[in-house]
Amino acid sequence: MEKELIIRYHDYESLDDLDAQGHCLVRQAMEAAQGAYAPYSHFHVGAAVLLSDGTMVQGSNQENLAYPSGLCAERTAMFAASAQHPQARFEAIAVVGCNPEGQWVEAAPCGACRQVMAEYQQRQGQSIKIYLYREGGKVRVLDSVEALLPFNFSADF
Ligand code: THU
Repeated sequence: MEKELIIRYHDYESLDDLDAQGHCLVRQAMEAAQGAYAPYSHFHVGAAVLLSDGTMVQGSNQENLAYPSGLCAERTAMFAASAQHPQARFEAIAVVGCNPEGQWVEAAPCGACRQVMAEYQQRQGQSIKIYLYREGGKVRVLDSVEALLPFNFSADF
């Protein structure tokens, strides 16, 4: 039986079209990118997680000469947020890239980061909103991790 999956998302033409909290979160992600350690790819990524109490936790990509040992900005931010605020819920996460030319660009989360987002969302039983900065100051907003990673892995051990 063939079925169809519809993915809903919102595209905003400008950061200024976001609500104040979304705008602030994307700005926090941009600020976080300043802390990237990316001597190999020269691609800086910033992420910021908004917690239920309004706290924002930043993360950036941290590379390593032993390549797989590095970590993406999103997981750096989510793991820091969860480690420092184990009781808090994640309301949203914003992600932005900065290419080697210094331009702000999209950094759509990799599969591993999507899986980590999916598990935090499942654990808290409440959707996590995702803000993806896009070239030219645009922003794509998804209301749930399911829109980024349908059919994600989950198991009861
Ligand atoms: N990277 C992130 O931090 N987040 C993404 O969404 C995509 C990629 C990092 C990993 C690596 O340090 C660099 O960007 C180039 O792939």
